[in-house]
Amino acid sequence: MSYEQPINQSPIGGLENIRKADEPCTIVIFGASGDLTSRKLIPALYHLYLDGQMPDSFRVVGFARRDKTDESWRMEMRESLAVHSRTKSVDDAKWDDFAKNLSYHKGDLTDSDAYTRLADRLQVYQNESLKNNLVFYLAISPSLFGDVVDYLHDAQLLKRWEEGDEFWQRVVVEKPFGHDLQSASLLNNHLLRHARERQIFRIDHYLGKETVQNIMMFRFSNAIFEQLWNRETIEHVQITVGETVGVGGRGGYFEEAGTIRDMMQNHLLQILSLVAMEPPPSLAAEDVRGEKVKALKSIRAMTPEDVAERVVRGQYFAGTVNGESRMGYRQEEKVDPESNVETYVALKLFVDNWRWSGVPFYLRTGKNLPMRASEVRVQFRPTPNVLFAAQGDLDLLPNALTLRLQPDEGISLRFNGKVPGNSITSRPVRMHFGYDSEFGAYTPEAYERLLLEAMAGDATLFIRRDEVETAWRIVDDIRAAWGDQPLTNREFYAAGSWGPMAAEELLANDGYVWHNPQPAE
Ligand SMILES: NC(=O)c1ccc[n+]([C@@H]2O[C@H](COP(=O)([O-])OP(=O)(O)OC[C@H]3O[C@@H](n4cnc5c(N)ncnc54)[C@H](OP(=O)(O)O)[C@@H]3O)[C@@H](O)[C@H]2O)c1
Repeated sequence: MSYEQPINQSPIGGLENIRKADEPCTIVIFGASGDLTSRKLIPALYHLYLDGQMPDSFRVVGFARRDKTDESWRMEMRESLAVHSRTKSVDDAKWDDFAKNLSYHKGDLTDSDAYTRLADRLQVYQNESLKNNLVFYLAISPSLFGDVVDYLHDAQLLKRWEEGDEFWQRVVVEKPFGHDLQSASLLNNHLLRHARERQIFRIDHYLGKETVQNIMMFRFSNAIFEQLWNRETIEHVQITVGETVGVGGRGGYFEEAGTIRDMMQNHLLQILSLVAMEPPPSLAAEDVRGEKVKALKSIRAMTPEDVAERVVRGQYFAGTVNGESRMGYRQEEKVDPESNVETYVALKLFVDNWRWSGVPFYLRTGKNLPMRASEVRVQFRPTPNVLFAAQGDLDLLPNALTLRLQPDEGISLRFNGKVPGNSITSRPVRMHFGYDSEFGAYTPEAYERLLLEAMAGDATLFIRRDEVETAWRIVDDIRAAWGDQPLTNREFYAAGSWGPMAAEELLANDGYVWHNPQPAE
């Protein structure tokens, strides 16, 4: 496949492809000594800088408790960049230019004085925009989100935006956003005491991925597919997000979260909403998010009986993932040896609206699966089998479209082709578009796009309050139905397999099988 015209629009937001955050601003990273900052945030800012997408003037202030100087923090970030940069190399001169903008602020998040000192520090900047246009990135434990916003308000660093204001402040909030509907709603109320919804940027890093954004481009700019995108032609949809890792050192966190909260509530439901949404009236953030929320709200609520029938949880036991042996979940560090926490979930959902009535959406995600891959598979209805039926046992498979979101990003369409020769035999074949082969290996990291959009003030790729709460409502119903019931034998799976038997049966009962992602050819 080849493209004939250069692409000059980004998939979401109606933006120029090379977008730039043009207003000078200061990014304050809370959690500057943490894993997310060194692995993702600083590398993302550095690459934006290299690509000329940072504002002409900007500052980055790292905030954490540990004792560091500006220079020692820069050095640490430089070392980490060497490991985590997507280009695997660092241009020393460019880094030095970039790093002049970085400084470290030592402080405790629960100490009001630290915020007063932060405010004083920002006042030193000559440029009014650097003093007042502020992005507060909360790369810290969610239990501290509310407090930080209170302190920022008290120190007059965070002001509620009013029409006509010359300057702006924005708060970027990492996941997890709450652990159920009630906590998410309380957190929302808390944040919204001091900021407007338009100032809050809730992260789901999946939305920063090129291929996830491409779902909208693919659907709404290609006449042939969008016409088929409904119950008349589509038989079912599968969404798979596979991880090859176990819980590793995060056993303590995982015992509290489980896969349904860690992955399903956010990433998979976000993908579903993009696949199922109606075309928005425009690409403005509120229009796009409004349609996504409508899709989520159309998901049929589940009774406990529905949950028993349509939801499968699973937990891995010891096995081998790609030749590497793995311990069972119950043997992991900081995990209860009798834990019933799920490391795998499969769901069958219905989106009860005009477009999707009766079409099952099967979603699954799990840890210690054989392949790290995320994909959406749309299976079309079969043709009436009249014409070739007389030919006996023809291998006619329904058409299927696969959107591979990661890795080996691309789109494939399966159809039936005639095998050359004098007899009528068929074989499923595919048409394939690969991102790398088409556009080269340039794939910005999700955090680059998200930081850029936060600086530019475009919230399209962030989760709105009603989105996060609607997703929690779906997950809460399921968790309530599980209660404290122990896992059954059918719900365990060997590390390195594609999940428990019960998940295979979920589809088999409807006459389908899971399509397991395949390595690139
Ligand atoms: N890491 C990831 O890949 C990832 C992915 C998705 C979401 N997240 C989310 O991002 C957030 C941060 O994750 P992380 O993995 O970076 O955590 P982390 O490595 O544990 O870092 C936590 C940071 O918070 C700071 N901190 C904690 N208490 C503080 C206090 N009282 N005052 C000042 N600073 C304090 C720590 O600094 P000091 O110890 O120096 O005080 C450290 O810089 C979490 O909400 C997490 O769920 C992380």
